[in-house]
Amino acid sequence: MNIKSIKSQFPIFEKKINGNSLVYLDSANSSQKPRAVINRLSHFYENEFSNVGRSVHSLAVTATNRFEESRDIIKNFLNAKHREEIIFTKGATESINLVASSYGDKFMKEGDEIILTELEHHSNYVPWHYLRDKKGAVIKFAKLNENLEIKTDEIKKLITNKTKMIALTHISNVTGGISPLEEIIDLANSKKIPVLIDGTQGAPHLKLDMQKIGCDFYVISCHKMYGPNGLGILYGKKKWLDLLPPYQGGGGMIDEVKKETITFAETPTKFEAGTMQTAEVVAMGEAVKFIESIGLKKILDHENQVLNYALERLKKNNSIKLIGNPENKASVLSFTIKGIHPHDIATILDEDGVAIRAGHHCCQILHEKIGVSATARASLGIYNDKDDIDVLDSSIKKCRKVFNI
Ligand code: ALA
Repeated sequence: MNIKSIKSQFPIFEKKINGNSLVYLDSANSSQKPRAVINRLSHFYENEFSNVGRSVHSLAVTATNRFEESRDIIKNFLNAKHREEIIFTKGATESINLVASSYGDKFMKEGDEIILTELEHHSNYVPWHYLRDKKGAVIKFAKLNENLEIKTDEIKKLITNKTKMIALTHISNVTGGISPLEEIIDLANSKKIPVLIDGTQGAPHLKLDMQKIGCDFYVISCHKMYGPNGLGILYGKKKWLDLLPPYQGGGGMIDEVKKETITFAETPTKFEAGTMQTAEVVAMGEAVKFIESIGLKKILDHENQVLNYALERLKKNNSIKLIGNPENKASVLSFTIKGIHPHDIATILDEDGVAIRAGHHCCQILHEKIGVSATARASLGIYNDKDDIDVLDSSIKKCRKVFNI
């Protein structure tokens, strides 16, 4: 694969950071945007902008058509069965809040149980915590093994006849571990327990097929998959979306409003209250086309090669401790260096144009478990290659010199 040509499609790489070429290793946080996506946003604002689903003038009809075409593109990308299973939200966080709130209101009562894992990031914990507060639900955490992997048996142990939801990540944003979804979803299906998959890290890196995966809900963060900010996708099985009450009330999501009664639109409209992110939804269609133009299989193969190279290089560096050792791993590696705070590592790397994230990565429960408050994290995107890893490695060695260790 010609990474240089792919990279040239991302204008940000024309910039120098502190006088150096940018080595962007923070895609798990947010990916960079290809020109096609940026251009689609401005083309929409310059030529097609209108609100959607309301007016009947030409611009409104065009904008609505483009918006709905994007839903079809995403439906096909995810191999969802119905286009009504694709809901646009403000982000992955809102998607999970929507499910926790609507599903919780309708289907959960005091004492009902939700199973999460110790690997979840805050977006897949805090919304369930609200439900615990509101409804008296109980949250149980499946324990990770010594490699910080999720094991199906740990989830199995926690299931009771009160389990009403299993919610877990597809890929960990700290260890890069890929969850054994097939086993877990088979187990949940056999007990008729719905499963929500937090796909914020999965969707940019793995081939997705909703009908094959068989989960009830799958959550996507568009800005992590070369798409615009401020947009999320919630996939939900139609049987659930038909049953769930709306999450927010407002314009666009109603059927009929009277002083005493309100009826609501069907899914997906009933979950899309207020003015939607029109340009962003349209540009997300372009992000999917960009991914498909390269091919997910090629993206995966390439990212795996770079990841394996990175692991090989960093493992040779004795001062580095890698966080977790999952057997199935993708695109993320977190580490610590004894004697240097992760924020200092990130600051020193930044001087060389290397962008990583340092902190708890919105996973304080996991960090508490491993006994540190912060880690440094390098995460990959389609534009990274082995040269980037060489720069990362030598920049890390520089940290040691700076700190004289
Ligand atoms: N955006 C968060 C991350 O960096 C959750 O992984």
